[in-house]
Amino acid sequence: MAIRSVLKMGDPRLLQDSQPVAAFDTPELHALVADMRDTMVALNGAGLAAPQIGVGLQVVIFGVQRNPRYPDAEEVPETVLINPLLSPLGEEMEEGWEGCLSLPGLRGVVPRFRRLRYRGLDQYGNDVDRTVEGFHARVVQHEVDHLMGILYPMRIPDLRLFGFTEVLFPEQAPVEE
Ligand code: NI
Repeated sequence: MAIRSVLKMGDPRLLQDSQPVAAFDTPELHALVADMRDTMVALNGAGLAAPQIGVGLQVVIFGVQRNPRYPDAEEVPETVLINPLLSPLGEEMEEGWEGCLSLPGLRGVVPRFRRLRYRGLDQYGNDVDRTVEGFHARVVQHEVDHLMGILYPMRIPDLRLFGFTEVLFPEQAPVEE
C-alpha cells in the first residue's frame, strides 16, 4: 500500500469529529488500514488515527512490540479499532509522557485513566472487547482522542512538563503516538 503524509498540529482537520464507519470488510476500509499501518511503521509510531492522514473516520491502529533495547516498555498487541467506545474503570488517573506523530519531536506529561474497557470492531467487523491498564490504556485514550479532535497538548495540566524529546530524553530513540 502506501506511506501517507501525517498532518501536523495546526491543520484544522485534526480538530474535527470523525464519522463512524458504516461498511466493514470492504476494499476501501482494508486499503485505509493498510496505509495507516505502513505509515505508522515507517515513522516508528506506537499508534495512528485516521484523521492524522486526513481521513475523517473513526479508525485507529496501535501496537508496540517488545524491544530488547527498552525492556521496561510494555508490549501492546497490534490492534485495529473502529467505532470505539471507552469506559473508564474507576477514577484512578496516572501521569505519563506522550508523543504524537502530529507533533514530531515533542513530549508532554498527560494524565489518563489507569484502567479502562474498550469496545469496537476490527476492519472485518469482528468485535473487539478488552479490559486494559497502564501504557496500553494510555495509548488507546490518546488515539481515541484524535477521533474527537483532541491533541495531547490540550490535556497537559502543567506546560512545564512539555518539551523537545532530544532535550528531555537525550538517550532515548523516539516513539510517537
Ligand atoms: Ni497522536
